[in-house]
Amino acid sequence: KDNPVTGVKRVLLAAPRGYCAGVDRAVIAVEKALERFGAPVYVRKQIVHNIHVVSTLEKKGAIFVDEVGEVPEGSHIVFSAHGVSPKVVADAADRSLEAIDATCPLVTKVHREAVRFARDDFEILLIGHEGHEEVEGTMGHAPERTTLINSPADVASLQVKDPDNLVWLSQTTLSVDETMETVRMLRERFPNLHNPPSDDICYATQNRQVAIKKVAEEAELVIVVGSANSSNTVRLVDVALENGATAAYRVDYANEIQQAWLDGVATVGVTSGASVPEVLVQEVLDDLADAGYGDVRQVVTAEEDLMFSLPKELRKDAAGAP
Ligand code: F3S
Repeated sequence: KDNPVTGVKRVLLAAPRGYCAGVDRAVIAVEKALERFGAPVYVRKQIVHNIHVVSTLEKKGAIFVDEVGEVPEGSHIVFSAHGVSPKVVADAADRSLEAIDATCPLVTKVHREAVRFARDDFEILLIGHEGHEEVEGTMGHAPERTTLINSPADVASLQVKDPDNLVWLSQTTLSVDETMETVRMLRERFPNLHNPPSDDICYATQNRQVAIKKVAEEAELVIVVGSANSSNTVRLVDVALENGATAAYRVDYANEIQQAWLDGVATVGVTSGASVPEVLVQEVLDDLADAGYGDVRQVVTAEEDLMFSLPKELRKDAAGAP
């Protein structure tokens, strides 16, 4: 791991990092809703799991709520990128709310898989984190037929109705390696386990993990910018530690970096979660430069150019015509 030039400090900046297409779309959806309908616009849950994004939108007039029952009847409400269960959609309609669905299309894809497998009488094993909003939304699409697999440790005690009629699905933001290990264990117990039609762990999650793996091979310290409740961000810390970094820390803001983390460190790796604006990474790079780590090299493992069109409720013109 030694830096070739002894004593020279450097930063390896992972790419891709930061905003994915689903986050970009969800944040723009709230901004556009504010422009079009005026403040306040209500948002169910954090639009994306980043405290900086949420506080910035709050200043522009967004009001974040936990449930649609808190929203005055007839108001506009945006559903977050993590998706919602059909019950939430129905509750919003009951209150005559004007809903704008910013669910990431790659989460909607998993919802559709859940509905289809449930209709075809499969039992769904959903690999994901208990209590995460995406998991609640996906389970809500097939509540009678879905069992949550929260960790590889759950596999041994799992009871199923018919071992020949099982399919696994997953949350979009998990560790690829850990998920594959869970699937391997599931298949050992249930050899006829069906696979999902395509990857549920999304391209952005996968790409950010591949990039930080490469960086972690050469960095003693890895700093991951992102919030504590951001699943994909927290996975980046785990992946860095499992792939060679001696230490890895998550920070929301540059001022959380502790001087002691840098003691004796020649190479610092930097990345950010899929809900993190690049300005926060830039602030980390500025502080690292002040600490002597001004030599920044990008480690590029993929190019991304995916973009999603806005939620359909915002694609109409102001008069409401399609
Ligand atoms: Fe969507 Fe993946 Fe981002 S599911 S919101 S593209 S992290």
